[in-house]
Amino acid sequence: MAGTGAEGPYYLPSSDEVAVFEQCHARGLAVMLKGPTGCGKTRFIEYMAWRLGRPLVTISCHDDLTASDLVGRFLIRHDGTAWQDGPLTRAVREGAICYLDEVVEARQDTVVVLHPLTDHRRVLPIDKTGEMLEAAPGFQLVVSYNPGYQRMLKDLKPSTRQRFVALDFSFPPPEREAAIVQHEGGVDGGVARTLVELGQRLRQLQDRGLAEVPSTRLMIAAARLVASGIAVRTACYSAIVSPLSDEPALAAAMRDLVDATFA
Ligand SMILES: Nc1ncnc2c1ncn2[C@@H]1O[C@H](COP(=O)(O)OP(=O)(O)OP(=O)(O)O)[C@@H](O)[C@H]1O
Ligand SMILES: [Mg+2]
Repeated sequence: MAGTGAEGPYYLPSSDEVAVFEQCHARGLAVMLKGPTGCGKTRFIEYMAWRLGRPLVTISCHDDLTASDLVGRFLIRHDGTAWQDGPLTRAVREGAICYLDEVVEARQDTVVVLHPLTDHRRVLPIDKTGEMLEAAPGFQLVVSYNPGYQRMLKDLKPSTRQRFVALDFSFPPPEREAAIVQHEGGVDGGVARTLVELGQRLRQLQDRGLAEVPSTRLMIAAARLVASGIAVRTACYSAIVSPLSDEPALAAAMRDLVDATFA
C-alpha cells in the first residue's frame, strides 16, 4: 500500500473523524463508515488500525456470504472433523478491528450474527460448537456502507443500522484532495490542483445525468498516468472520463471539460 512506513498508512483527515473513531474504539462502539466509492473509507480504517495498534481483519461482503463463512465451520479430515474459525471469530478472539466492506451486500440472515457483538455483552454465540465467545479487549466491529448508488431496494434494516455510530465520509475539501492526489499520484502540486479542479467541475455534471461522480481514486489514477509520462488530457480521458460513463453525449461533455481545464 502506498505510504505505509514508520508513520503508518498515509491518511489525511477531513474533519474530526480520527478523534470520534478513537472514542468509539475506547468505548467498544461499533462504527459504520458511510460514503461514496473512492472517498477514503478503506484507507481511513487501515490508518486507524495502525494508529490503535490493532490487527485489521477485512471481509468483503457479497450475497453468497453465509454466517458460516463469517463464524467458522467443521472441516472433515482423515482423522475426524476439526473446527475452523471464520474471519469474524478470529477477529473476536484476537481483539482485532473487523471491517466488513459493503455490508449492505450481505444477506440479512448473515448480518444478524453481528448483532450480539454490538450490544453491551459483546459476545459471539457459535451455535455449532455451543461456545459463547466473549470479545477480547480491542475488538471492534466496523462496516462500510455506500448509500444511494442504485440501492433503493437494498438497504440496511433499522435493527442493524441503529447498532452503529455512523461516520459520514464525502470527498475532501479541494486543498486537501489536491494534497492527497499529489501524495498518492506522485505529481507536483500544480497538476494535482488542476486535476482536483477538473474533478469538481465533473462532479457538477451530476445534475445533468452523470450517475457516478469522479472519486478521489480516479483523480489519483489520472495523476499516476501523468507521473509516468502520459499526456495529461489522455490520462484524464482514460482514467476519469471513460470509467464514468458509456453514454456518448456525457462522455463528450466530460472531454470538453478536460480540454477547457487543461487548455
Ligand atoms: N483522506 C485520505 N487520505 C489519504 N488517501 C486518501 C484519502 N482519501 C482517499 N485517499 C486515496 O484514495 C484511494 C481510494 O480510497 P479508498 O480505497 O479508501 O476508498 P473507499 O472509500 O474505501 O472506496 P470503496 O467504497 O470503493 O471501497 C486510496 O487508495 C487513497 O490513495
Ligand atoms: Mg473500500
